[in-house]
Amino acid sequence: MLVLAYNLLMRSVIGSMYRRILKPILFLFDPESVHTAFIKMGELLGSFPLSQSLINSTFTFRHPSLLQKINGITFENPVGLSAGFDKDAHTVNILPDVGFGFAQIGSITALPYEGNPKPRLYRLPLSQGIVVYFGLKNIGVKKIIEKFKQNYVSPRIPISISVAKTNCDATANESAGMEDYIETLTQLRNQNVGDIYTINISCPNTFGGEPFTTPEKLERLLLKVDELKITKPIWIKMPISISADEFDSLTKVATRHNVQGLVIGNLQKDQTDKSIIEPIPSTMKGGVSGKPTWELSNQHISRTYKKYGNTFIIIGVGGIFSAEDAYEKIKRGATLVQLITGMIFMGPQLIGEINEGLYKLLQKEGYSNISQAVGAHHKTNS
Ligand SMILES: Cc1cc2nc3c(=O)[nH]c(=O)nc-3n(C[C@H](O)[C@H](O)[C@H](O)COP(=O)(O)O)c2cc1C
Repeated sequence: MLVLAYNLLMRSVIGSMYRRILKPILFLFDPESVHTAFIKMGELLGSFPLSQSLINSTFTFRHPSLLQKINGITFENPVGLSAGFDKDAHTVNILPDVGFGFAQIGSITALPYEGNPKPRLYRLPLSQGIVVYFGLKNIGVKKIIEKFKQNYVSPRIPISISVAKTNCDATANESAGMEDYIETLTQLRNQNVGDIYTINISCPNTFGGEPFTTPEKLERLLLKVDELKITKPIWIKMPISISADEFDSLTKVATRHNVQGLVIGNLQKDQTDKSIIEPIPSTMKGGVSGKPTWELSNQHISRTYKKYGNTFIIIGVGGIFSAEDAYEKIKRGATLVQLITGMIFMGPQLIGEINEGLYKLLQKEGYSNISQAVGAHHKTNS
């Protein structure tokens, strides 16, 4: 009891210091440099048992009511790191200590890519979002596999590897693009790296545009993926800036293939959306993360859960800044949630805060396990 009270106090002090002191300073600097510095710091802190255990004892919150077994994998809590924060698997040894229940590495591709020209990140403090224009910067599947073999033989949390297609002229046509996904998945499967594979069909910042977001093309890609006979769970990272009908037609395709989960979803593609308050410089291309994704992601989660809740698990992503936000996505139908931008705006203690907040919300509403709250909105309101 005393330990829990101490942790609660520490998280609240760290959060308050982060928002009042550190964030205003960090937000004066170039966003990509700050991002890189945080990744390096995470990698360093994950290299020593002492720093791991100090962070673990301060940041994490554990309770059996948050534990779920999904697709045969145990998730100690439902809060995961979303794809794009740790593209090249630097922080796998510290993420469990920060409190994450799982993490998505990548997106990675068959070949390395240095990314789109800078600037690739632009903060929107009023809108609580970030414009992202990385364009699938990553070190390529071969190096990622080497890293896992050398440094992360048995990660302490489930690791999903997000797979996209190499962002270059050569893979802009459909069949080369497909081969690129298949090459990466084949290498990961053969080397037994990763616990879950997430197929990112929805990166908005790629050469030739989003390649597999029409039902016909997705059908052809998933037919090829089926041939790999992957036995680990496969999730699809869905676009959100599409209509309900378009979303539904992609989901329908997924029902016919070896797909167990839908990650809903990716970035807000419309830079003129009303959720974006401040002007974005005309030179700054890219999709927007954070609160500008909240509404669209929630709508797609609800609709998908109502229609396909028995077929797929839903991983809810987009604009989660608090336990209440995570709970909203869960009650709409998400079994797991993921985030990035909330952590950047609120501080790294947010993960423990969300888990503790979820535990309290479950208690308040009389649920003994988080799985009972999944889709609760539809059960009570319909
Ligand atoms: C810096 C950054 C890089 C991203 N890169 C990827 C990526 O490589 N692959 C992917 O599927 N999503 C990527 N995303 C999208 C996030 O995974 C997530 O879907 C989106 O940001 C909404 O979640 P959030 O509001 O919690 O950030 C990226 C987001 C950010 C902020």
